[in-house]
Amino acid sequence: MSTTMSRAGLWRERDAELIAPVYSRYSDLVVESAEGSTLMTVDGRRVLDFGCGIGVTNLGHRHPAVVAAVHQQVDTLWHTSVTAMHPQMIDAAAALVGVAPEGLDQVFFNNSGAEATETAIKLARRATGRQDIIAFIGGFHGRTYGAMSLTASKAKYRGYNGPFLPGVHHVRYPYCLRYCSHGPGERCAIAEGEDIELLFKTRALPDTIAAVIVEPVQGEGGFVVPPPSFLPALRRICDEHGILLIVDEVQSGMGRTGRMFGVQHFGVTPDIMCVAKALANGLPIGGVVAKHSVMAHWHPGEHGTTFGGNAVACAALIAVIETMQRDRIPERAARLGKRAMERARSWQQRVPGLAEVRGLGLMIGLEFLRDGRSDAELVSRIVHRALERDLLLLTSGPDDNVIRIMPPLTISEEELDRGLDIIEQSIMEAAAA
Ligand SMILES: Cc1ncc(COP(=O)(O)O)c(C=O)c1O
Repeated sequence: MSTTMSRAGLWRERDAELIAPVYSRYSDLVVESAEGSTLMTVDGRRVLDFGCGIGVTNLGHRHPAVVAAVHQQVDTLWHTSVTAMHPQMIDAAAALVGVAPEGLDQVFFNNSGAEATETAIKLARRATGRQDIIAFIGGFHGRTYGAMSLTASKAKYRGYNGPFLPGVHHVRYPYCLRYCSHGPGERCAIAEGEDIELLFKTRALPDTIAAVIVEPVQGEGGFVVPPPSFLPALRRICDEHGILLIVDEVQSGMGRTGRMFGVQHFGVTPDIMCVAKALANGLPIGGVVAKHSVMAHWHPGEHGTTFGGNAVACAALIAVIETMQRDRIPERAARLGKRAMERARSWQQRVPGLAEVRGLGLMIGLEFLRDGRSDAELVSRIVHRALERDLLLLTSGPDDNVIRIMPPLTISEEELDRGLDIIEQSIMEAAAA
């Protein structure tokens, strides 16, 4: 080890020695503390965080209400698992049901988004007695085997891990910039279920399908907002054929899109909803919320978990939901998101490569194309330049040619504008280079 190396350099060297090389990191920052919208690194940098630990710290780092709830709980009770009940788990379920779409009224808690997906698959199979699942190209549902089998946002996530869960049918998501030739606001055949009807005619009978799983706004797939007709069409198809509708709100949930859950923009009630990420603002907890009538198919012991519903994570979850309601955080995300979208759209006149600015609330994607093809190289230059100016940005999409704007929903207007200034400068410089 070199004696002249920076503190960050030393950590990077130890990381390379000790940590599995499989983590695909968005930056080489070494962060030692964080507050609100700012990450503080071991070598004294203060970096504006527009990634939120991949959509987790929606209330900003170390939100005081969540910190207080966690402190109090740490001194009271941590864990019982299924050896006993505890009030925090029941109160957390009540809080979650209180903000979930109408009719979703029972909760199973686990620890992550992938586990929520696994839970949803098992529940849908049990409740319908059917096996197959319809999922979407561009969808991301996690890294465990069932979840990975549903995932189709990047081939490397599936990689050399096969064979996968059988009976998964992938159809196109209405990612209109990629697949469609209709004009804005015109009828979209994919959104209206054309690919699913074709699946039923050519490859899979509807009564073999247990569930359709969908992200109301695709996250890893490129921050893709579907046309308004899409979720209602899925609901209609599911109702026609006795199929359950699962919405994966792991990334789009918890105020991010300007509503508590993304599906609430579309006037549709799912049968099962997966949640995780921002649920406890950084403590690991996930789960599914489902209709009583669906959950009732399960009997004790048919599914379970050791850590799920951990008392400390549940206390954090309760504080997150109380804070979001009290401070009207989803409404704030809608307002700030509108401001950010308007500003980003104004860049399109000057940067022809900025093909689309799309989003809901503070889940905003900037997609870059060159001669009609994904321009990941330009995006990489933009992200680099932004980081040099102390703004952390994430990318997404199958080609990584989409910049995600995903700051804390509590970000101040001044910080949001500073971040947008940096993005604008970085785009203009990188596009001119
Ligand atoms: C929509 C969606 N579902 C599921 C997951 C998996 O969550 P986790 O990484 O907590 O397993 C993610 C993670 O990015 C996600 O975005």
